[in-house]
Amino acid sequence: MAKIVLLPGDGIGPEIIREAVKVLEAVASIEGFDLEWETADMGGIAIDKHGIPLPEATLAACHAADGVLLGAVGGPKWDDLPGQKRPEAGLLGIRKGLGLFANLRPAKIFGALQEASSLKAEVVAGIDILVVRELTGGLYFGKPRFREELPGGGMRAVDTLEYSTYEIERIAKVAFEAARERRRKVTSVDKANILESSRLWRETVSQLAWEYPEIELNHMFVDNCAMQLVRNPGQFDVILTTNMFGDILSDAAAMLTGSLGMLPSASLGGRVGLYEPVHGSAPDIAGQGVANPLAAILSGAMLLRYSLGRGRAAALVEAAVENALAIGYRTRDIVQSGAKLVDTATMGDLVAEAILGGGKHG
Ligand code: IPM
Ligand code: MG
Repeated sequence: MAKIVLLPGDGIGPEIIREAVKVLEAVASIEGFDLEWETADMGGIAIDKHGIPLPEATLAACHAADGVLLGAVGGPKWDDLPGQKRPEAGLLGIRKGLGLFANLRPAKIFGALQEASSLKAEVVAGIDILVVRELTGGLYFGKPRFREELPGGGMRAVDTLEYSTYEIERIAKVAFEAARERRRKVTSVDKANILESSRLWRETVSQLAWEYPEIELNHMFVDNCAMQLVRNPGQFDVILTTNMFGDILSDAAAMLTGSLGMLPSASLGGRVGLYEPVHGSAPDIAGQGVANPLAAILSGAMLLRYSLGRGRAAALVEAAVENALAIGYRTRDIVQSGAKLVDTATMGDLVAEAILGGGKHG
């Protein structure tokens, strides 16, 4: 039996994770396998209950799992805490603790949502981008990192941006291999005109590209990439980039698809994979039942595919999500005129029912 650790976290995290569990239970019953669940605290809720964002027991539970499904972390309640005590530090601790250096963020437009994008439908038509973000290095983890008082008054704060060859090689490999199964194009994004670490990034990626002659590699500066994403996103297949740039570009790529509320992600590289929606904890709408659970549900599908080797079950979930959208159901964030507005739990029901063949609402 596969064991999944749930980290619902903060804000809308618990409501969307509930729907993901509902859907995963449905697909497991249809496909004839069993899932075992364990819920653990991480993020703000862990700070409230245990005084720290990532209790040891939580990390231990994740290490012992077959896959981890995370909701979201953070909120204004914890915003004034110092860096290492913030909810986000828990997330970084899990990524590092599980060795999850490869973050896959697919941004694929759903046919039914082409009109929901803030860009013109013809610009976003058919976009299917995979952002491969380095996740355990770069500016997020570089040392030294500190803050000090200056003798003349005021403060100085330092973060460090560093990358070593092996870190670049292993993430580039993930990107090249993903591209092989896709449209065979990798765009490596850096700031090599300015940053030393980016120059090493570019050299290392170019070197590795010799091993993948069937893949077309191009390099792009990050500012240009941000511009190209909104100008002509159709040019991208796989975007390979650093931790910080990937954080920023993946939000932009996600929004092209109409809603941040739609996008799942997988963090891989260690024995246990972590799956989470790209969106945040949205504290302003937490507890109202209006959050979009589809990103969490689709993260569950990625878990099935990458951690449990159940590609067919994953495809069933993805098709059920497409179906719910195609027949006009929308949560508030993606609602359009003429659509049927549903709450969080109903959207979960619709997807689960489509899998079970019920289609009560169809
Ligand atoms: C993300 C988030 C996180 C990050 C935060 C919550 C630490 O923005 O997963 O993109 O910056 O990596
Ligand atoms: Mg982010």
